[in-house]
Amino acid sequence: MSFSVTRNVTWVGKIDWELRKFHGEEYTTARGSSYNSYLVRGEKTVLVDTVWSPYDRAFVQDLERLVDLQKIDAVVVNHAEVDHSGALPELLSRIPDVPLYCSKNAVKSLTGYYHKDWNFQVVRTGDKFSLGNMDLVFIEAPMLHWPDSMFCYLTEDNILFSNDAFGQHYASEFMYDDLVDPCELFDEALKYYANILTPFSPSVRKKIDELKSMNVPLNLICPSHGVIWRSRPMNIVEKYEEWADDYQEDQITLLYDTMWNATRVMAEAIAEGIRAASPSTEVKLYNIARSDRTVMVTDVFRSKAVLVGSSTINNGILSSVAGILEEIRGMKFKQKKAAAFGSYGWSGESVKLITQRLREGGFELVNDGFKLLWQPGEEGREQCRKWGREFVNSLG
Ligand code: FEO
Repeated sequence: MSFSVTRNVTWVGKIDWELRKFHGEEYTTARGSSYNSYLVRGEKTVLVDTVWSPYDRAFVQDLERLVDLQKIDAVVVNHAEVDHSGALPELLSRIPDVPLYCSKNAVKSLTGYYHKDWNFQVVRTGDKFSLGNMDLVFIEAPMLHWPDSMFCYLTEDNILFSNDAFGQHYASEFMYDDLVDPCELFDEALKYYANILTPFSPSVRKKIDELKSMNVPLNLICPSHGVIWRSRPMNIVEKYEEWADDYQEDQITLLYDTMWNATRVMAEAIAEGIRAASPSTEVKLYNIARSDRTVMVTDVFRSKAVLVGSSTINNGILSSVAGILEEIRGMKFKQKKAAAFGSYGWSGESVKLITQRLREGGFELVNDGFKLLWQPGEEGREQCRKWGREFVNSLG
């Protein structure tokens, strides 16, 4: 499959309708994804990025139908992660001397992955590749989302090839923002930001300021995943500014796991208390062991506060709770409040341990947590409701 983006640019990527997990098993992609590669043809011909390795042969075969591979003057590697560089070995087996334009860090990464002495041409922000009638201008974008990441901007067509930034794991044959369901699109774009870019929000803010200060016209943003932004490309840039600014909604998310339902009963009663005291606050509950981690992280991203609960087991916490705590620690969330809760029968360490890990994860602890012995009866449930009311009231 290929399609014309402009007179000069052809999309030559792969729509992956089957993808359900990304970054190994870490990230769920319920709506698939795409690996976008762009062929830019002026007086010279340049390929911007490739596709994930399972699709390397089909990619090169499709490309060959559009262009004589020997006529490709350069390949731009905006980011070396395998979902974009995976077809390079297949492609370069056919055109081994083609120059690869990339950042200095990408050379380290590409060499580490593929162990080939390719014709690397290291570029920095402001460097240009001239296609004769137009230029590709390189813009380093470290930590959006790897140290090697960069963008490039095509003059004449005013296109920003932004690689992972502004992407979505969203498969669609339509491939343009104005042709797809906007709710699905922004749901995926937000999920992508929450799970992939949150730790790098300070770099996102800086890069957007830099892009704006360049003051160049922007007709299209062509990311490396999902659809192309063409209806009003600044929409997604503005969304990123909002999301990068310690984003939160009037939402509280409760994440818990439970051995014999006592901690679940606590979670539900705490939620009742929150709702009673603050009816406008959205409250979401997830049994961590039964829920999608990517969705849970997205809801923590949207929340102003998070409550984490676990039964005590073997003087510790349930393994699913440990897993999500590690995941949200890595997100480096800022300006979010939190507290722990849990039921216990004997030693009861879970609340203290969760509190400690939430603090290490950068959350502001509202109190020392709430633990309850055995299965909550009506009196215990009322204590939970009261704790929920006090928690939400303390948020101000
Ligand atoms: Fe889409 Fe960082 O790879």
